[in-house]
Amino acid sequence: MLTSIKSLLGLSTITLMLSVSLIAQPAPGDTEDDLPKDYLTKDFHTGRRIALRNQMPDNSVMVIFAFPTRTYSNDVEYLYHQNPDMYYFSGYKEPHSLLLVFKEEQHDSLGNSYNEILFVQKRNPKAEQWTGRRLGIDGAKNRSGIQTVYNATDFKNFNIDFSKFSKIIYDRFPADVPDGFDSADLFDLIKQFKEKSEMPEQLKEQKRFDNRLFIELTAGLREIKTAEEIDLLRKAVEISCHGQNEVMKTVHPNMSELEIQGLHEFVHKKHGAEGVGYGSIIGAGENGCILHYMENTKTKVGNSMLLMDVGAEYHGYTADVTRTVPVDGKFSQEEKTIYQIVYDAQEAAFKTLKNGSKWSDASQAAKDVIAEGLIKLGIIKYKSEVGKYYPHGLGHHIGMDVHDRGNYGTLKKDMVITIEPGIYIPEGSDCDKKWWSIAVRIEDDLLITQTGYELLSHFAPRKIEDIEKMIKEKSVLDNYKLPPLESGKKKGF
Ligand code: GLY
Ligand code: MN
Ligand code: MN
Repeated sequence: MLTSIKSLLGLSTITLMLSVSLIAQPAPGDTEDDLPKDYLTKDFHTGRRIALRNQMPDNSVMVIFAFPTRTYSNDVEYLYHQNPDMYYFSGYKEPHSLLLVFKEEQHDSLGNSYNEILFVQKRNPKAEQWTGRRLGIDGAKNRSGIQTVYNATDFKNFNIDFSKFSKIIYDRFPADVPDGFDSADLFDLIKQFKEKSEMPEQLKEQKRFDNRLFIELTAGLREIKTAEEIDLLRKAVEISCHGQNEVMKTVHPNMSELEIQGLHEFVHKKHGAEGVGYGSIIGAGENGCILHYMENTKTKVGNSMLLMDVGAEYHGYTADVTRTVPVDGKFSQEEKTIYQIVYDAQEAAFKTLKNGSKWSDASQAAKDVIAEGLIKLGIIKYKSEVGKYYPHGLGHHIGMDVHDRGNYGTLKKDMVITIEPGIYIPEGSDCDKKWWSIAVRIEDDLLITQTGYELLSHFAPRKIEDIEKMIKEKSVLDNYKLPPLESGKKKGF
């Protein structure tokens, strides 16, 4: 049915392009050399499940569903992005799936024992021709290290007595999961789980179903990165820095924000990053004051400052790096003054970082520098006003999510975090006009070590003189010329 509607509309290429799975599945003609070799291994995913099981309370089960697919347009879907918790514990990247991890060994009616089950999309050559290859049971076993893998179609009749568990540890379900044509899609899996577990509507009164514990356990595990995760994050961060550097060397006032976004993302893809961890933020001048500006519609960035907050996602791990640069290659006196305050605030925060230090100490250190700097310039009168021009927090964990799970209390060795102070002075602000439309954020990614930190994003310059020097350099992307558009000659275009 779905297939025939798609044929009717002739959308085959678009559908295939947008819905292909993020991790490459080998095609019949592919050799090992055609695929990246640095994905997380099944040993990683198995190790994460063991670590989880060790922390789960007695007689409990953890329930993790895939993220839903999402409509982009008519019958075209957004590129699918797996629920990071599902990916972390299984390596499975496809939708319409369910992972159950049990604290203790379970036994089926034939006496076989298991302590984890993964329900996956059933192989279906017709559907795969449209929406991409599926791993199926054998592929999922191989990817996840889980031996008890079944088709999602089997969940309905699968015999699990959820009533015997003291805790059912679950994440909140998305409210608007679509019911597709398939009878074993995510909608059905959630419905069947609710029926089997007799999940009450009013969960607050039912402490057996525990969402708080889900967040606590996943945050506790995911906030400390393993060696494999640190390797992937290093790559994501280095790639993002290369994007920043090539753009600094190439940027000129006639470029558009979109074009600059394209250059960053071109460099990411050149280095094998599948996507970005969040919509790229390319804000020239006043647009830099919009913290999560993603339209990137300004056609000429002009001689303003350019704020570029861009993070490559490499094999499921995202960087988050911001550089703010003068498009004409030289910071004006006012731009320099504001930039230096943000830089000093970042340095002050860096100095506090080490295993055992507090997030709040780093935040306070940065805030104090910004407040004192703005008071000195007469932009604010009192420290309490600092939030007017520095309205966000200092940083966050990065990992599979750009704002990654974490407890945000004490910093520990092998956490990977951002430190990102900023000052944003929109037009019309209650201060001297000369400061208007200056927006600066400097965002770096750091690995916390026993005695301090490692600056993973050191590849892209942060100091004023180093940025000015980088802008003078030639890029391989410099002066690339594309033929003008024929349709661009029409009046009014
Ligand atoms: N790029 C989003 C953030 O910096 O948090
Ligand atoms: Mn950030
Ligand atoms: Mn950012």
